[in-house]
Amino acid sequence: SKSFRIVVLSGDGIGPEVVAEAVKVLKVLFPEGSDVELKLEEHIFGGCAIEKLGEPLPKSTLDACLTADAILMGSIGGPKWGVDAKVRPEPGLLALRKALGVYANIRPASFASDSLLSLSPLKEHVTKGVDIIVVRELIGGVYFGARQELGASEAEKDLAWDNMAYSVPEVQRITRVAAKIAMAANPPLPIHSVDKANVLATSRLWRKVVTDTLRDEFPAIALDHIFVDNASMQIVANPRKLNGVVLTENLFGDILSDEASVIPGSLGLLPSASLAGAPPSDVSSATFKPTSGLYEPIHGSAPDIAGQGIANPIGTILSAALLLRYSLGLEKQAALIETAVRKVLDAKSAGGLELRTRDLGGEVRTTEMGDAIAGVVRQML
Ligand code: NAD
Ligand code: IPM
Ligand code: MN
Repeated sequence: SKSFRIVVLSGDGIGPEVVAEAVKVLKVLFPEGSDVELKLEEHIFGGCAIEKLGEPLPKSTLDACLTADAILMGSIGGPKWGVDAKVRPEPGLLALRKALGVYANIRPASFASDSLLSLSPLKEHVTKGVDIIVVRELIGGVYFGARQELGASEAEKDLAWDNMAYSVPEVQRITRVAAKIAMAANPPLPIHSVDKANVLATSRLWRKVVTDTLRDEFPAIALDHIFVDNASMQIVANPRKLNGVVLTENLFGDILSDEASVIPGSLGLLPSASLAGAPPSDVSSATFKPTSGLYEPIHGSAPDIAGQGIANPIGTILSAALLLRYSLGLEKQAALIETAVRKVLDAKSAGGLELRTRDLGGEVRTTEMGDAIAGVVRQML
């Protein structure tokens, strides 16, 4: 039997609500005494850690994360620790990603079940057949450059700045991750690299390195470049044009992935995996080598609905599936969760109602959605 240590960071706002449902599903998959043992270890992180210990990422939490087989996170942040607060949760998340070295953030943006097509604010003929995977560089760029707060010094009392930098190796390695994801499909998926090379020096470096790396190492992949302003329009007006892998830097990827969630219909649906390399492509084979990683929904702590029990837990449940696939090598169980989510989204209850949380126009509560998915998982075991 195998045993894995999973660090659970529920965090703030709806974080604990959605993580509880993912844990519920994992416990159905791996009940006590089963072949695979998941040792789930909750650690304090984010605003709640600021309250208790004065800092968002306490050393005990960081140490636990650095030695875990994988990390499942909810979300952090909230109005209590707003942008003007002295100590804020968000730098803790950036520090955690950096410490883990998880430079590759994979955000499959279209967990589309056709039964959701009518729920998207976009028209069905626009969203049908969209299949986009956003690959976002996660530990570089303007998020991590030098920065000067407003009034930080007498000389700069009316000035603030953020420095955006990328090195050639940083762009090479994220390009290779995108390429490996593209090559895992047959035929290989196209890569759409998104930048602002008509203005930014970092984007001109980005475009050159992406072009060179793919030409030299992955000539089978079709590559095009698109400016981020245009991409942000295409992704809602004509998203099929971006089918394949959307490869982009940290800030653009943050924005475009939230925007892409409009396609399936809710931010609450989308999962993510943050890895220190390419996702293993040999997940079903005997040579599979797991990689530790950080798994979280792409949404935040949703202060506007926190505590009401109405958040959509699907993004977190699907993040748990990615965790099983990439970090534990449990492809069968990962696929089982994804099938269960699809079945629940496609199901109609006895009364003919569909199971939908509030964000998708329904009345189903967070725990009920978790119960429904866990129930289908149990049936399929
Ligand atoms: P948000 O993602 O928390 O919420 C945006 C909107 O989407 C809100 O209307 C919210 O109700 C809705 N929403 C988000 N997740 C949902 C879900 N699972 N089910 C139903 N509706 C959902 O973005 P925000 O309000 O701009 O940010 C709130 C806080 O979260 C900020 O402090 C921000 O820094 C933080 N944040 C954290 C993470 C993270 O922990 N990884 C990610 C994004 C934002
Ligand atoms: C995300 C979030 C984070 C980011 C914030 C909370 C630092 O928006 O995970 O998408 O910008 O990366
Ligand atoms: Mn974001």
